[in-house]
Amino acid sequence: MDRALRLLAAAALLTAPTSALADAAAIFQARCVTCHGADGKAQTPVGRVMKAADLTSPAVQGLDAAAMAKVILENPKHHAFASTLSAEDAAALAILVKGLAG
Ligand code: HEC
Repeated sequence: MDRALRLLAAAALLTAPTSALADAAAIFQARCVTCHGADGKAQTPVGRVMKAADLTSPAVQGLDAAAMAKVILENPKHHAFASTLSAEDAAALAILVKGLAG
């Protein structure tokens, strides 16, 4: 493969997931951090009061990405904002949450 093609292939690989994850990071910041914290451990004032799940815990990390996207959309504690998230948002958020395990 010549250099231009390789660059194109790399760009194609990068753009789709990267932009979805960039969106997910912005959504996480805007919609999730209040309860779950930037590190996902839910050690925020609201997170403690609401007993928000520690997103780095084995219980949460044990969910596969599809199951995680489903609970993000369907957990009753999320009803205030879940309807504003698309399935794509939830799928990208699930990948981001799985990345919090470190
Ligand atoms: C208003 C507070 C609040 C906000 C905002 C919030 N959550 Fe939660 N979340 C909770 C609580 C409380 C639980 C635990 C619910 C339970 O025990 O069933 C939870 C549970 C979860 C779980 C685990 C669910 C399960 O059933 O195991 C995931 C994953 C999750 N939240 C992701 C997110 C993401 C991603 C966002 C942002 C789009 C978000 N949460 C925003 C309060 C919140």
